[in-house]
Amino acid sequence: SHSINLAVIPGDGIGQEVVAQGLKVLAAVLPQDVKLETEEYDFGARRYHATGETLTDADLDSLKKHDAILLGAIGDPSVPSGVLERGFLLKLRFAFDHHVNLRPSKLLPGVATPLAGQPEIDFVVVREGTEGPYTGNGGTIRKGTPHEVATEVSVNTAFGVERVVRDAFARAQARPRKKLTLVHKNNVLTFAGHLWTDTFHKVAQEYPEVTTDYLHVDAATIFLVTDPARFDVIVTDNLFGDIITDLAAAVSGGIGVAASGNINPSREFPSMFEPVHGSAPDIAGQGKADPTATVLSVALLLRHLGYEAEAARVEKAVEADLTERGATVRTTDEIGDALAARVAS
Ligand code: IPM
Ligand code: MN
Repeated sequence: SHSINLAVIPGDGIGQEVVAQGLKVLAAVLPQDVKLETEEYDFGARRYHATGETLTDADLDSLKKHDAILLGAIGDPSVPSGVLERGFLLKLRFAFDHHVNLRPSKLLPGVATPLAGQPEIDFVVVREGTEGPYTGNGGTIRKGTPHEVATEVSVNTAFGVERVVRDAFARAQARPRKKLTLVHKNNVLTFAGHLWTDTFHKVAQEYPEVTTDYLHVDAATIFLVTDPARFDVIVTDNLFGDIITDLAAAVSGGIGVAASGNINPSREFPSMFEPVHGSAPDIAGQGKADPTATVLSVALLLRHLGYEAEAARVEKAVEADLTERGATVRTTDEIGDALAARVAS
């Protein structure tokens, strides 16, 4: 029989509430003979205030032994901006080499979109997760003077670009439409842009069935609003991916339903699954948070660990729940219970 040894990081604000629902659904969907073990970690604002720590090397050693990580949300207005972002989230993504930041966008039935009509939206963004301008490669000189110079270097390696482009081609190949769009800005960012474009064309030779397309990132933002149906799989760098996936979430039902995976495809280190939304301290502890994005992140977690049938059951349950939800107002707990009941039956 199998087992899943899961690290659970509820984090701050609504993180606690939504993660509890994700675990509820996970426990309900797993077959009887799969043993689910969970260990909770207290990372986030409280730990930072109590100890000054965000994520230590010892913490990373503990996390390493798990099969996967489920994260709620990290962040609180009481912590200066950037401390937890760099000290926790990015540190973890880099330490565990989460180079595939997977962000699906699917407009599900019953979900409102700000776009006119009810466009067909079903694409997935493969955002590079360990390079680009996120590496902290930069500096400031003449700080505080009118002549201050700040640099923030975008790091793009042949190794890093090729592995994420390959992952995206494999994902496109596995989908019915088999279409992959590279999003970059190779008319201006010519050094990195050419590395991405050349790598994209090289790997494309191995995937003759995949239709390829290229868009500059600014044009991509237009099409995400005017014609989102044109997208199937998108591959892009870390910062472009950060920006376009917020837009993608906004047009496909909002961050209440946007899921993500920080994936290490080799499984050398555990992958981490989290809702795209933040800790929403304004509504924390009130039972108002929608746990759907966390539950959909649990589906990505299941798929990553090889539980495809269970992942599909969770996604179907969410679709059915959203379809029937209508204008009903339910608590976080009630939505979690309803989803757990659906996947169990
Ligand atoms: C995200 C977030 C993070 C990012 C921040 C919090 C560091 O915006 O997961 O998209 O920029 O990657
Ligand atoms: Mn973001």
